[in-house]
Amino acid sequence: MRQHRIAAIPADGIGPEVIDAGLEVLEALAARDGGFRLAVDRFDWGSAYYRRHGVMMPQDGLATIKSADAIYFGAVGAPDIPDHITLWGLRLPICQGFDQYANVRPTRILPGITSPLRNAGPGDLDWLIVRENSEGEYSGHGGRAHRGLPEEVGTEVAIFTRVGVERIMRFAFAAARKRARKHLTVVTKSNAQRHGMVMWDEIATLVAADFPDVTWDKELVDAMTMRMVGKPRSIDTVVATNLHADILSDLAAALAGSLGVAPTGNVDPQRRFPSMFEPIHGSAFDITGKGIANPVASFWTAAMMLEHLGEDRAATALMTAVEQVCAAGILTPDIGGKATTKEVTRAVCEAIKGSNVAA
Ligand code: IPM
Ligand code: MG
Repeated sequence: MRQHRIAAIPADGIGPEVIDAGLEVLEALAARDGGFRLAVDRFDWGSAYYRRHGVMMPQDGLATIKSADAIYFGAVGAPDIPDHITLWGLRLPICQGFDQYANVRPTRILPGITSPLRNAGPGDLDWLIVRENSEGEYSGHGGRAHRGLPEEVGTEVAIFTRVGVERIMRFAFAAARKRARKHLTVVTKSNAQRHGMVMWDEIATLVAADFPDVTWDKELVDAMTMRMVGKPRSIDTVVATNLHADILSDLAAALAGSLGVAPTGNVDPQRRFPSMFEPIHGSAFDITGKGIANPVASFWTAAMMLEHLGEDRAATALMTAVEQVCAAGILTPDIGGKATTKEVTRAVCEAIKGSNVAA
């Protein structure tokens, strides 16, 4: 029997609720499949840990989870701790320490979910956003001088390296090649940002030569927002910098109906380190503990994790179950339904076991 070791880090806000839900459906999948089992180690790192210990995770945290096959992450952020502390204390050290340089964000309109785009339904919006995840505007380069004085200065330097850009470009072209339409849109801002972004464009042209079967085009990030809203069918795979893709992926999630369904993978394509899978939505303290968090992003995230672990059949079974449940109208309030997290989870588990799905 194949065994996969999962490090679960539910962390903050609705993170524990949706990770519990995700682990439940993963168990149902493993039981149904019979070919694999998951050994889950759970870590209590996050904001509560910070309040007790003054750090978001122990100093040897990365070493502790390094041997896991994948990391299943909830959300990070708390109302009483500055965001840059929670983020730079847990999620970014994992992404950067494990060189998870490719952030993969699929977006689709699931059946039963209404897009705010007029006339757009399943099939009209089917995108894969590839976000550079190791450098750019998230490098942590910069600083502040003359604090508090009128002449105070703060810099936030965007770092782009040839190695960093070329590897994400290759990853994105390869990802586009695996999709039916085999089209990649390279997003930059090379009209205004004339150094690093022009280098992106040049590297895109070089890498494209190695992928003659992939068609590609370029778009400036501001124009890309209009294209996403106005011509969603013209888009297939997208590659962009860390910050640009952060923004575009929120827009993508909103256009697909809700941030509550959007998944992501922080991937080390070379598999030197474990990759980390998480819902995009964040900790959502406004609904924490109310039992109404949408677990669909966490399920879709689990499907991405299964695919990464080579369990393609279970990944497909999970997405089929999720789509059946959504189509049957068993939805949480953020997407117009009345169901609780537990009800959606139960329905997905039933669908996995092969029972009928009824509203
Ligand atoms: C995301 C989030 C994070 C990011 C936040 C929490 C810093 O918005 O995963 O998209 O910007 O990377
Ligand atoms: Mg974001």
